[in-house]
Amino acid sequence: MLADLLKTLLGTQFAYYLKSHSFHWNVETPDFYQYHKFFQKIYEDAYEAVDPIAEYIRSLDEYAPGSLERMLELSVVPGQTKVPRAQLMIEELLADSETIVDLNQCFTAATNENKQDIANFMAERLSQQNKFAWQLRSTLKENRA
Ligand SMILES: [Fe+2]
Repeated sequence: MLADLLKTLLGTQFAYYLKSHSFHWNVETPDFYQYHKFFQKIYEDAYEAVDPIAEYIRSLDEYAPGSLERMLELSVVPGQTKVPRAQLMIEELLADSETIVDLNQCFTAATNENKQDIANFMAERLSQQNKFAWQLRSTLKENRA
C-alpha cells in the first residue's frame, strides 16, 4: 500500500539525512573541504525530500511518523554510531542510496493508485538519487596512471 511505502521511505530518508549530515561534521581527510562540501550537498538534498514525503502521507489521510524511535524502526538503512574513514563514508552512503531505490516501488504504487503527483515526485527523486550515486561511485575510483 502506498502510504506504508511512503512511511518506510520517510524513515529511510530521515536516517540517510542524519547520517550524511554527521559525515559532513565528522569527516577527517587531507581532502577535508571537498568531502565536507560534497556531504553537505547530499544531506541538503536528503533533508529537502523529507517534508514532501511526510505531506504526501498526510494527503493520503494517514499520520506521518514523528519520532526518532519510529523513524529508526521504519528505516531500511542502518544508523552509524562510529566515525568511519572518509572513503568508507562514501562507500556507506553509496550502499545506502542503492537501498533507497524502493523509490521504484513507490513510483509503481503511486501510478497504480492514480496519484500522478506522487509518481512525479518519485521520478524526480530517482533521478537525483542516480546523480548522487554516480558522484559517489566516481569519488571511489582510483587515479588513472
Ligand atoms: Fe555545516
